[in-house]
Amino acid sequence: MSQGLEQQAREQWKTRTGFMLASMGSAIGLGNIWKFPYITGENGGAAFIIVYLICIALIGIPIMLAEFAVGRNTQKDAVGSFRELTPGKPWFITGIFGVAAAFLILSFYGVVAGWALSYTTKAMSGDLLAIPADQMGDAFGGFIGNALSPILWQTLFMAIVIIVVVRGIKEGIEKWNKILMPTLAVLLVILVIRAVTLPGAGEGVSFLLSPDFSALNANAILVALGHAFFSLSLGMGTMITYGSYVPKNVNLPTAATGVSLADTGFALLAGLAIFPAVFAFGMDPGAGPGLIFVTLPAVFEMMPFGQFFSVLFFLLISMAALTSAISILEVPVAYFMRKFEWTRKKATWIIGTIIFLFGIPSSLSLGAWGGFTIFGLGFFDAVDYLASNILLPLGGLLTALFVGWALGKQKSLEIGGLSEASVWGKLWILSLRFVAPVLILLVMASVLGFLTF
Ligand code: PHE
Repeated sequence: MSQGLEQQAREQWKTRTGFMLASMGSAIGLGNIWKFPYITGENGGAAFIIVYLICIALIGIPIMLAEFAVGRNTQKDAVGSFRELTPGKPWFITGIFGVAAAFLILSFYGVVAGWALSYTTKAMSGDLLAIPADQMGDAFGGFIGNALSPILWQTLFMAIVIIVVVRGIKEGIEKWNKILMPTLAVLLVILVIRAVTLPGAGEGVSFLLSPDFSALNANAILVALGHAFFSLSLGMGTMITYGSYVPKNVNLPTAATGVSLADTGFALLAGLAIFPAVFAFGMDPGAGPGLIFVTLPAVFEMMPFGQFFSVLFFLLISMAALTSAISILEVPVAYFMRKFEWTRKKATWIIGTIIFLFGIPSSLSLGAWGGFTIFGLGFFDAVDYLASNILLPLGGLLTALFVGWALGKQKSLEIGGLSEASVWGKLWILSLRFVAPVLILLVMASVLGFLTF
């Protein structure tokens, strides 16, 4: 009997810091180091960053608090929490979308993370910087287009993710985040110092700091909002799941604000590690997804001690991707453990393996299967599109409506730890009821082509 109870007792974070670091680890990932710099580069720099910051403040922080609150109050996974709060109502579908999004996102996330792992070893061996700068693009294209090698790196990455998640909340996820996140911060600061002290770095710094609003168009605003979701790990039940392991005495509004600020600060620092170097060596800041795999290695070649810094950089990306991937896998794992009464070990291995297998066509679609398209998109892009542009905003919208309207104001304020009389309480409800839903609907309408600018 007592053993049965023990098995059922929900795992919890050991410390408040552990919870904060794990949530920061979830938020800080490829989104910050790979995607944020290149979309900033493509969308005009500082002006884009200002819009992004507004999205984080008005929509990101309120929805993160909503997710933490739902998770902590119910102590359940992404689906179970909605069922518990509104039994017999269809709100639990929000959680199902989340579990589906987790499958899709982790499948291609593992592919890109595999590239980062591989580039870490290529940087260490010196092979990477031996490639002539003008052939860096071809080398990258050749690598990701190869049928076998990227899949082997993806396998290694996914195996590490599974091994951490199998060990559970305290001994796996919390422990690894406690080691990796501080290391990440140190690596990033070293890279920023290197970049901003390069001769000619000033142009890159001003690209990040002096806004040119003429470069900003409506599409850029939509990209900014979509990215705010992805970067803060919202709309997928990740923060509901992590919130469900939080002890009662943690202040959730402070936690949501802290995690969001850390994520944003990290993205800005990543920009500060990249753009000054890109400008200092006269490269193109708008190179797109290849920015860190093509432009940056060429930059490292020209930089004093470039090899050392290239190793640090790819290590940074691999570690950041790992702590995020862990949080993505935990969403379906927590769901399957409750729903089918699977052990953590069984749920993690089965789901992790399925997600890994599902990532293989994504990897192949960039080379061998390049001709195979869905609605005109390659498999990789189609999965990314469905998850990032449809499921995440939809999940965010439903979560905002759920906490803003369905739960009732009193209950929401109570579980969020805010009082009705406070300005923050009022602003939170205002965002969840109106600001977030309206803006998300606009973004989705435009992404789906109902609105064109
Ligand atoms: N926030 C992570 C990143 O920026 C990705 C992520 C998305 C993680 C959704 C969890 C949920 O890379």
